[in-house]
Amino acid sequence: MDIKTYLREKKELIDSFLKEYFSPNFIPTVLKDSITYSLSAGGKRIRPILCLAAHEACDGDSEDILAFASSIELIHTYSLIHDDLPAMDNDDLRRGKPTNHKVFGEGMAILAGDGLLTEAFYMMANSLSNKNIKNTALIRAIKDIAFTAGIHGMVGGQAQDLLSENAEPDKETLSFIHKHKTGALISGSLRAGAILANCGKPSLNAITRYGENIGLAFQVIDDILDVEGSTDELGKTTGSDARRKKMTYPSIYGLENSRKKAEELIAEAVFSIKDFSAKAEPLREIARYMLERRS
Ligand code: IPE
Ligand code: IPE
Ligand code: MG
Ligand code: MG
Ligand code: MG
Repeated sequence: MDIKTYLREKKELIDSFLKEYFSPNFIPTVLKDSITYSLSAGGKRIRPILCLAAHEACDGDSEDILAFASSIELIHTYSLIHDDLPAMDNDDLRRGKPTNHKVFGEGMAILAGDGLLTEAFYMMANSLSNKNIKNTALIRAIKDIAFTAGIHGMVGGQAQDLLSENAEPDKETLSFIHKHKTGALISGSLRAGAILANCGKPSLNAITRYGENIGLAFQVIDDILDVEGSTDELGKTTGSDARRKKMTYPSIYGLENSRKKAEELIAEAVFSIKDFSAKAEPLREIARYMLERRS
């Protein structure tokens, strides 16, 4: 299979769903503009794609969960808007454009994030009317997303990330930060896709292990790209971590060992789903593609 084509096609589905979803006007108009500015600025849509791919790997039809998967992109986009705020990473460039607060001001950027986060759960709950999804599975999937996006996952990791600026390097703290701020929601997206396909416990455990491994690898690679990537390709300013004195894999382990770590995690992820059929091929390929990504 050609993974680039798979990623492009799925991204197009998610992009057009989100465009349609946010086409009606709501007031104040500037709130809508701020939300759609960040949401439509680009982005790989990797979390919703992983949700769809896990659903397919567990014999589901990804069309049934397009709205659910797309809602995860709202949560992710909110986290980026807030992550860029002066009180957090203080970044000026995101997805190749000036950050949300640079265009709309800090107050509106905070509210756009709040709006995206809340709307995501409204979108998920609206899947109750989708007759191809079991309500018990839907509630379990929503619970997983809430757990991994909130204080037990991403928000917890972001809090530790802030607390650890300028701190003494510590491997355990670094691992906590990366597993929570990034690994959790990636793993949650995959688990939700599998749960919505009513997959059994052994498969769900395998998908979880896959998710934890690629989730951590994703942030290790993000750290590496912040050192040696290009601002043009990434659409965000490189060197941001060093400027903020963040705890990162390259700062503690060095670039070469960080790359090795990412490779090991990806190999472990692919191994975790070895018993799945050919329907898991996109998951295997996405894992491998992560090592090559430049953006
Ligand atoms: C960036 O996420 C923030 C991290 C958690 C590393 P992505 O690399 O998925 O950013 P977009 O969505 O493609 O812009
Ligand atoms: C952010 O990590 C993780 C989030 C949950 C948003 P980073 O701060 O490294 O992400 P970038 O590099 O700004 O995208
Ligand atoms: Mg950050
Ligand atoms: Mg940041
Ligand atoms: Mg980063």
